[in-house]
Order: sequence, then structure tokens, then C-alpha cells
Amino acid sequence: MNQNHFYVTTPIYYVNDKPHIGHAYTTILADVLARYYRSLNVPTFFLTGTDEHGQKVQKAAEARRMAPQAHCDETVVRFQELWRKLGITNDKFIRTTDAAHKAVVQEVLQDLYDRGEIYKAEYTGWYCVGDERFFTEKDLVDGKCPECGREVTRIVESNYFFRMSKYQQWLIDYIETHPDFIQPAFRANETLGFLRKELSDLCISRPKSRLSWGIELPFDRDYVCYVWFDALLNYVSAVGYRRDPAMFEKWWPASYHLIGKDILTTHSVYWPTMLKAMDLPLPRTIFAHGWWLTGNTKMSKSLGNVVNPMEMVEKYGVDAFRYFLLAEMAPGQDASFTEEAFIARYNSDLANDLGNLLSRVLKLTLRHLQGVIPPAGPLQEEDRELLQTVSAAVDAMEQALHAMKCDQGLAAVLNAVRAGNRYLEKTAPWTLAKRGDTERLQTVLHTAAEALRQIAILLLPVMPGKMTALGEALGFGAEEFAAQRIAELRQGGDFVSGRTMRDTDGLFPRIQTEEKTQKPASSTPAPAPAPKPKTVLPGVADLITIDDFFKTQLRTAEILAAEKIDGADKLLKLKIRMGDEERQLVAGIARYYAPEAVIGKHIVVVANLKPAKIRGIESQGMLLAAKIGQDLKLITVDGEIASGASVG
Ligand code: MSP
Repeated sequence: MNQNHFYVTTPIYYVNDKPHIGHAYTTILADVLARYYRSLNVPTFFLTGTDEHGQKVQKAAEARRMAPQAHCDETVVRFQELWRKLGITNDKFIRTTDAAHKAVVQEVLQDLYDRGEIYKAEYTGWYCVGDERFFTEKDLVDGKCPECGREVTRIVESNYFFRMSKYQQWLIDYIETHPDFIQPAFRANETLGFLRKELSDLCISRPKSRLSWGIELPFDRDYVCYVWFDALLNYVSAVGYRRDPAMFEKWWPASYHLIGKDILTTHSVYWPTMLKAMDLPLPRTIFAHGWWLTGNTKMSKSLGNVVNPMEMVEKYGVDAFRYFLLAEMAPGQDASFTEEAFIARYNSDLANDLGNLLSRVLKLTLRHLQGVIPPAGPLQEEDRELLQTVSAAVDAMEQALHAMKCDQGLAAVLNAVRAGNRYLEKTAPWTLAKRGDTERLQTVLHTAAEALRQIAILLLPVMPGKMTALGEALGFGAEEFAAQRIAELRQGGDFVSGRTMRDTDGLFPRIQTEEKTQKPASSTPAPAPAPKPKTVLPGVADLITIDDFFKTQLRTAEILAAEKIDGADKLLKLKIRMGDEERQLVAGIARYYAPEAVIGKHIVVVANLKPAKIRGIESQGMLLAAKIGQDLKLITVDGEIASGASVG
């Protein structure tokens, strides 16, 4: 690793998306790395941002009857607010609609065009709207998109192409000779597998007649730039490419592009070949992490099992959430998120092990030494052993960071915490106090406090708020402790003697679950098994089978028109589209919705209900709505999906 600088990026997120745990994870991982490198005194730049062009954004803006820029300005705030809540310390937040970024993209396009790296040709192929990518016939899997499995559309049009294919062999050689370039290694193999097939040139334009929301090609005003070509360039435009040579020189090449495994090809094939054509060095490492699953199931909006980071933070606090994500996922592998697993790890690692170590040192120091951390007398074997375990955790954490194994680094730190608890059990300071052995008591409490100080500094990047509070409990000022650096941990010295400990209200209060899994307050290493969630089922007679449920055919529909019905103040007559079909519904929603307010909504309809006449008007189905007391809300679809889609 080049220790002169550390430049880490996250993917720029689609501004349309509601931030979910996947976005939160990559950004927290980048933040933790950035904080660690700063703590190691390495100059650091951390970039995140939003991807704001392309078809999805244009469509979403159209659905909201808004200009795309206004739509982006409104939705980008969700990410910015979440990052504030999660304590993210990015140095820059780039939006691809920033004028500065757009100008750089246009210069790159013009330069590549002038040098013959971009050319115009007729294109025939298959297009996936969801992924905004073109595929050739042979790329398709069973006639569907090879990435997401959705339907693809056949397209014939003139477009501009980047000569990606000419770099195929160069890229293969580069990957084979740079084992750090794509990590984990099995992802490098995956890319090499992809490169075994003939690489096509990359279509980098979209005719404005089909898509106008993008950066205009400087050499042809009838086209805009392909969203991925524009988006990938954020990694260089954000650090001064073509604008600020000193800044660019300082940060480029990036140390890490952190990405999810689903956007590997764009980063490991498109981006390096683009950089090669631009004559720029490649990033040191593209690191693809795995997926967060709910239990063992993929998170998806349609399954309704997507974890909302905001909710978790509000419920359990930002530091615990950051800790869980980092400790639970081995970067590169998939990991499972369940609230039960979260609570089990929190109670075991934080409430029990770390919280317990602090509370013992605190109580004993307050009770026997008026709260003042004493100097140490001569050290014994067991004191040295504890301090060595903590030093080993410093080394392990640093190595784990360089190898992107943060979970293992945290495990080493928690191992030191447990060693701290075992140390107290072994040295039994409560007995020393009873016996009046003040000298030994002082050495033991000094050693335990010093271990806690080092542990808190090691965990600061992951839990900045709670570890600063731990520092305060050890008698440091908040700002003083937040500025402590891992780089200084190895220098030795006495930083705790004479500090007055401050009582805390319990740094990590235990989360009580319904089935109380009481774990003794000791250093037992194994985490408590995840308590099973309590399920309350109705009586068996009331249960239905899945087949019963599927007798009701639920489908999505778009409301095309709505009007009041004379003489029926509760009813609206609706015209809806369900796939290819148009239908008429009579719905009792007039007290809650004005006709014009429901037009354009994507609702859920019982599609196989026998038609019925209501006030003499035929209703061909029934819409779903949620009602409580005087409140009623239509059940609508969370995001874009074609009308007529089945629900269930
Ligand atoms: N805009 C592109 C990236 C352009 S970078 C030049 C994009 N955006 S995204 O918002 O759709 O996805 C952002 C990231 O979230 C991706 O890295 C994706 O892998 C990640 N995740 C989406 N769902 C996830 C999980 N369930 N778990 C972990 N990460 C997941 O793609």
C-alpha cells in the first residue's frame, strides 16, 4: 500500500433510490477506512456522491411531473441527511449534475473523439432499461438481461462507441500481473472469465429523442452521454482532473474503489479501459464486497425485507449500527442482517464485554481511589500479558485494514477486551482492596485503564461517539480524546495516571428482548445465541394456506382517470390500466382523495373479483387501501414497476 496518500471512494448512488443498508454499508466501510488512515497520519481523501443522470431518473421525474434537476435536488437530500446521521466524514460529495463534473466529462469525450477513441456507427442490440446497459444477442441468458434477468428491448439506432475492444488483451495482462487490482481474488477471476469472451466496443451515447437527461456530447448535440461513462469519471473529476494538477497529482490513483459485487464489470472492465485511453494510471484496488441478505434471502423492495438504516440508527444508535455492519460482514462475502443477530452481537460484544470492562474499572477506581487513575508500580507477568494482548490487537487491526479484513481486526480488539475482563477476574482487585494491598490494586487498575484507553482509540474510527464517551469516562476531554491517533499508540508513555474518571450512565445499556437471554457478566467469549423472535400466530382455525392466499389475484395498476359520482359523496369512478387492459373501478375513497390527486398513482387491485354494480355503475375489481379510524391511504407501489405486475 502506498502510504503517501489514501484515496477511497464509494459508488455514487442512484439519486432515485431510497438509501438502504447496502448504501449505508459501503459508505460506513469507506468512512471507517478513512478514519483509520487519518488516525495513522496518512493524508486521506474520502469521496462519495450521487449518480443523477439516465433513464431511471428521467422516468421518476416524469412520474412526479417534475423537471429532472428539481427531482434530483429533492432526492439527493436523503443521502446527505443519512450520511450526517451516520457520522460519515467524506471530504467531498459529488453530484454528476455539478457543472464542474459535467464540463470535465465533456472535455474527456471531446478528447477521446478527437483521438479516434470514440466513433459513430449503427447499432443493433438489446437494451435493459433497469441496468441501462446494452447487450449483444450472445450476452443474453434465456433471452433476458444477463445481469438482472429482466426483459430486454431490441434497439436499432446510430450511436457513438468507445473502442474498448482494442484494450482487451492489455487489460487481461494487467489483471494477471497486478494481483491487488481486483479484490477479492475470486472477483479478478470472474473478470478474467468475462474477458475470455470477445469484448465489444462500448456504446457511450443515447439519442436525445429517446433520453434527454444526460450530459450532451460536445461533438453531436443530438446525443447525451451514457450514464455509466459519465458516472465513472466522477472518481477523477472530483479530485481535480483537468482542473487542478497539484490536487490530482496528490490523490490519483485512488487507493480503493469500494463497490458491491453487482457493479464489478463496469468498474473492472469499462473503467480501466477508459483510463487507459485517457492515459491515466489505474486505481490500486477495486474491492467488491458481498450482499447484505435478510436472513438468507436477497433484500428486495418487492419482498418488503429491505433494511432501512435510518430506522436502525433511531432504534439502536449510530455507533452500535456501524459496529455491527463492520464486525458482521467479512468483506467480499455475503452477510445476513437480522435484528435478532444485531441484538445478540450488541449484547455480547458491547453491553457485556466492553461495557462490563469499563464499568468494573470505573466502579473500583471510584470506590477505592476517589476516581483518580493511579500510577503503576512494578509490573507483573499478568499485567505485561494484558498489555501485550492489546498491542497485538493494534498490529492485528492495522494488518486487517491493509488486507480489507476489518471484521478480523475488530475480532482482535474484542479479544483484547475479553482478555481485560479475564485479567480482572484473575487479579481480583476487589480482594486486593479488601486486603489493603494498595500498591498492587493501583497497578492493576492502572493497567486495566491503560488497556481500555488503547482499545477505545482502536475502536474510535468505528464508534466515534461512544469511544469519545469512553475517553471522557477515563478523564480525557471529548475533543482531546477524539483527536487521539493509532499512530501514537506504539510510542509508549503514561497517558492515564492522575486522570479523574467520570461516571457514565452505562455506555452500552443491554437491549432487553422478550425472551431474556441472561448472560453472566463475565468474559465468556462465545456470543449469546440469537434469541428467536416471538411469533404470535392466530388460532390454527384462522390460518390459511398459501394456496388460499393465491386464490386472490393481486396486480398493480395505474390510475388513468378519476371522477366523482353524482349523488354518491363517498365514491370515485376510476379508469385504470392493468398491463394491456383498461378497467373501471368504483372505489369508496372520495372522502379521502380528490379525483385529481389519485391520477397517475400505481395502486394494487384485486384483479379476479366478480364485477359488481355499485350505484348502477359496474366496478371491475377492487383497489386496496389501509384504513384506521378516520384515516385511509391507498396501497401504492414503492417505485417503478410495469402495471399489471402480480403482487404476492
Ligand atoms: N450508480 C451506480 C454506481 C455508479 S459508480 C460510478 C449504482 N448505484 S446503486 O445506488 O444502485 O448501487 C449502489 C451500491 O449499493 C452498489 O455497490 C450495490 O452493490 C450496493 N448494494 C445494493 N444492494 C445491496 C445489498 N443488499 N447489500 C450490499 N450492497 C448492495 O449502482
